[in-house]
Amino acid sequence: MQSLSGKVAVITGAAEGIGRAMAMRAHAAGMKLVIADIDQERLSHTAAELEARGAEVLARRVDVSQADDVDALAEAAFACFTDVHLLVNNAGVAVAKSAWETSISDWTWVLGVNLYGVIHGLRAFLPTMLERRQPGHVVNVASIAGLISAPGMAAYNVSKHGVVTLSEGLHHDLRLRNAAVGVSVLCPAWVRTRIAESERNREPDERTKPSEQSPIAAKAANAIAEAVEAGLPPERVADHTFVAIAEGRFYILTHPETGPLVRSRLEDILEDRLPTPPAMGFPRRA
Ligand SMILES: NC(=O)c1ccc[n+]([C@@H]2O[C@H](COP(=O)([O-])OP(=O)(O)OC[C@H]3O[C@@H](n4cnc5c(N)ncnc54)[C@H](O)[C@@H]3O)[C@@H](O)[C@H]2O)c1
Repeated sequence: MQSLSGKVAVITGAAEGIGRAMAMRAHAAGMKLVIADIDQERLSHTAAELEARGAEVLARRVDVSQADDVDALAEAAFACFTDVHLLVNNAGVAVAKSAWETSISDWTWVLGVNLYGVIHGLRAFLPTMLERRQPGHVVNVASIAGLISAPGMAAYNVSKHGVVTLSEGLHHDLRLRNAAVGVSVLCPAWVRTRIAESERNREPDERTKPSEQSPIAAKAANAIAEAVEAGLPPERVADHTFVAIAEGRFYILTHPETGPLVRSRLEDILEDRLPTPPAMGFPRRA
């Protein structure tokens, strides 16, 4: 998709972090915006910031893990703007635990937001996007954790590997139908956001009640928080993404140093080796 001016972008998890930076970047490209987030207060703040810059914005509180919420978002988006050209399935959360420490409620929460959030976005928006036959693009936000398997991040790794394979299959399905809609999968390493404080958005009900964290898991979580703090500014990630959209690229790796980690995983598979441990402090900057 080349020309973005006057077109419509839908971005989930847009109240802050990478989603907010994407919204600002989309507005700078002349796009109208539908922004969604579970955090109503911050979402309203971001919507007001965009409006102050002259953007046309529809903001909706949405929990992307809930099919009905995402369906209602799509209905509101098409009712307001008729077409959607760019869909960014970005909302995500993280739990830093090994597989046996990850509780059922942790799995439900992380897979619900990170994987089902993307599934619901595709199911709710794509049929109408395809029917309208407008040129369009989907960006699914995965992570380098979708291409390698870091320790201490079991549920996060599973969710992001799911998003990568979902996106690859989607690419083939869209090509087979000669669709005017393309897809990319964004796979950053550390980005300076509040992802390490994801629990702030967790509903304290029975299904998703946080479980206890072991001292080792707590140490891993601290290391991740430090790496995130030293990560790329989200605006750089948004810039990379919009360049990739214009160039029609599928895999968006914002941190070039992560390439060798992906290569060594693939070589481990092909050469029948034990998995190489990825350096815990992934490369921090592009
Ligand atoms: N920060 C990193 O280092 C990093 C690296 C790779 C990938 N990512 C991915 O980038 C995406 C954005 O994360 P971020 O780093 O900007 O984190 P962030 O915590 O700053 O932003 C996430 C946004 O998603 C929203 N959100 C959380 N749960 C939601 C739900 N159920 N429904 C709707 N909105 C919800 C939050 O309120 C927040 O505004 C995520 O998918 C994350 O996994 C982040």
